[in-house]
Amino acid sequence: MSWTLRDIRRTYRWMAWPYDRLFRRGYQGLRQESLKGLSLRPDATVLLVGVGTGLDLRFVPPAGLILAVDLSPAMLRRAAQAPASSAVDALIGDGARLPFPDASVSAAIFHLVLCSAPDGRALLQEAARVLEPGAPVAILDHFAPRGPMRKWRRLASRYSWVLGTHLDRRFEPMLQGLPFEVQNDKSLAGGYYRAIRLRRR
Ligand SMILES: C[S@@+](CC[C@H](N)C(=O)[O-])C[C@H]1O[C@@H](n2cnc3c(N)ncnc32)[C@H](O)[C@@H]1O
Repeated sequence: MSWTLRDIRRTYRWMAWPYDRLFRRGYQGLRQESLKGLSLRPDATVLLVGVGTGLDLRFVPPAGLILAVDLSPAMLRRAAQAPASSAVDALIGDGARLPFPDASVSAAIFHLVLCSAPDGRALLQEAARVLEPGAPVAILDHFAPRGPMRKWRRLASRYSWVLGTHLDRRFEPMLQGLPFEVQNDKSLAGGYYRAIRLRRR
C-alpha cells in the first residue's frame, strides 16, 4: 500500500508534536554516521529532502546554504527553529517536483524519507536532475531486507502508516536505471538501517 501527498501531510500534522521525543536521541549516532565524510565546498548548496523537524540540520557539514524541503507545514515550522550548521532556506513542497534549476545543487541528503514518501524513486529521480555531476548523496533508511524477513516487513507495513512510513520498501529497485553509483553501503543498528552514499554520475 502507498499513500498520497495529502495522507503524508495529515499524518505528519500530528507526528510533528511527538517527533523529536521519538527520533532525536536514539537516532543521533545514525545521522552522524550517515553524514560522516560528506565533503562539501564552503559555498556548497545542500538539498535536504523531507527535512522534518530539522534534527539533521546541525549535523550537516558547514556549507553555503541548506535547501530544506518538506511536504508538511507542521514539521517544517519546527525545522525553522532547529539549530543548524549553516544558513537554511526552508520551503514547503514535494521532493519529486523541486523548484530548482538542473545541476544547481552540490549535495543531497535523504534521511528517513525514501520509505515515507509516496514514491521514493521519484525523489531520487528529481535529485538526479538538480544535482551537479559528481555530487554526493547521503541516504539513511530502514529498507526491507531480502529473503524471508521481507514477508514480515510486508505484514508490518500494513500498520506502519500510523507512523508515516513503509516497512517493505527495497532500495535497489528504487535506484535502478538512475544516474548514480553506489560508493558505500553500511548496515547500522543490527542491520535494521542502512547508510548509503551515492555519487551523481
Ligand atoms: C520520517 S520523517 C523524517 C524527517 C527527517 N528527515 C528525520 O530524519 O528526522 C519523513 C518526512 O518526510 C516528509 N516527506 C514525505 N514525503 C515527502 C515528499 N514527497 N516531499 C517532501 N517531503 C516529504 C514528511 O512530511 C516528513 O516530515
